[in-house]
Amino acid sequence: MAEVVIVGSVDAAGEVAADAIEQLVLRKPRAVLGLATGSTPLTTWRALAARNLDLSEVRGFALDEYVGLPAGHPESYRSVITREVVEPLGLTPSLVRVPADDGPIETAGVDYEAAIEEAGGIDLQILGIGRTGHIGFNEPGSSFASLTRMKTLTEQTRRDNARFFDSPEQVPLHCITQGLGTIMRARHLVLLAFGEAKASALAGAVEGPLTASLPGSVIQLHPQVTVIVDEAAASELVYADYYRYAWKNRLAWEQI
Ligand code: F6R
Repeated sequence: MAEVVIVGSVDAAGEVAADAIEQLVLRKPRAVLGLATGSTPLTTWRALAARNLDLSEVRGFALDEYVGLPAGHPESYRSVITREVVEPLGLTPSLVRVPADDGPIETAGVDYEAAIEEAGGIDLQILGIGRTGHIGFNEPGSSFASLTRMKTLTEQTRRDNARFFDSPEQVPLHCITQGLGTIMRARHLVLLAFGEAKASALAGAVEGPLTASLPGSVIQLHPQVTVIVDEAAASELVYADYYRYAWKNRLAWEQI
């Protein structure tokens, strides 16, 4: 079962996720991180930036990218990752990849999988979750074995992401995303979720049932998952009291 950490604020969640990344990088300076975009990981990046670690050797792979935005569009995930992750954390730009950032879209999935493999696989994958239950942009129906490929965004996800654009119609219809199978190969998954709007998807992901209709539920098959949530996102978890009790009584040597 995932370790579920229920914290009092979005900032506190960022500190816990940053602890996990810091422990990894101190152990392995050339660690490979999987990078989510969107609102959820922002306090993680902020907490990490404040620690002034040397992250210049860390390699990064973004989870996903919109398809169809002009190069350099401020809301392309390449731009977002540069602005919100690479620059504030002092990552080396050439060590950070985004799907389809290099070469033709037709082979981008295969190329991305090869690049991840060549880097030795992802050590720690930061994840958010969408209201549809997606992780990455694996919308309902995505195979648990899927690899990096193009997907069509649901209307719900396009509405949810419209806040980043001038109008809902500007949100691309298509994306390229690491698959659920790709995400499952990462050695440690750190899933963050905040706010009541995520409570139902989060409960489905953590407590099941396992179903491609709620793609995030695939995390139940992973051996090392840390789920970090605020009280609102935790509000539909049946075993919330147990998670609080287990976290409070964790042993000193246990790493996140
Ligand atoms: C982003 C991603 C998505 C988001 C999810 C939540 O790279 O893969 O799964 O994590 O849509 O988005 P926010 O954090 O904006 O609520």
